[in-house]
Amino acid sequence: MAKVFIMDHPLIQHKLSILRDKKTGSKEFRALVSEIATLICYEATRDLPLEEIETETPVAAAKTKVIAGKKLAFVPILRAGLGMVDGVLALVPSARVGHIGLYRDPETLKPVEYYCKLPADIEEREVIVIDPMLATGGSAIDAISQIKLRGPKVIKFMGIIAAPEGLEALKKAHPDVEIYVAALDDHLNEHGYIVPGLGDAGDRIFGTK
Ligand code: PRP
Ligand code: URA
Repeated sequence: MAKVFIMDHPLIQHKLSILRDKKTGSKEFRALVSEIATLICYEATRDLPLEEIETETPVAAAKTKVIAGKKLAFVPILRAGLGMVDGVLALVPSARVGHIGLYRDPETLKPVEYYCKLPADIEEREVIVIDPMLATGGSAIDAISQIKLRGPKVIKFMGIIAAPEGLEALKKAHPDVEIYVAALDDHLNEHGYIVPGLGDAGDRIFGTK
């Protein structure tokens, strides 16, 4: 069954409280999404494989460790996932970045795909799908199904807030995918919004409402 990691680090929880506040404006919201993404990414990359190399320090020869082989690709789900890209690249600057464009139909809440561009060598990489909100789970499930068709080595999902409904759906659809989120909220409302959540992540990042 899928492993779920809910980040209880005080820095993440503190930043998340400000992010949830309806008085937080777009500029601060964007900065916080990016900072939280960096902190979650630190945990989500904890098990990257290492290999030993020889290094000459100014004092002596040393055996040191570096990340082994082809490395990471991040795939933000447009639009809101874009807000997390700078934060994860701050930790892994050489990672590749793919994009999947999905929006939720407001009536059916089903994801509608409008864009998909993934790195050419994705099958040699570990992929981390990023999207701040896991609500019904439809967008993440769809994005991961698309990526699986290209056969990457490992896929993880990194979000900020999950609803229990979305978490269960994602675990069931993709039991092999590890899930990293900063909070597991209470429920979804009748419009498919996470309660208490933070509202519409895309609108708050891009100031479109
Ligand atoms: C939001 C969010 C997720 C999706 C989550 O995107 O960024 O992608 O909803 O909902 P789900 O788990 O029920 O699929 P939205 O559809 O609002 O598009 P946007 O990012 O372009 O605003
Ligand atoms: N998408 C969002 O941006 N917010 C929610 O609460 C649910 C889906």
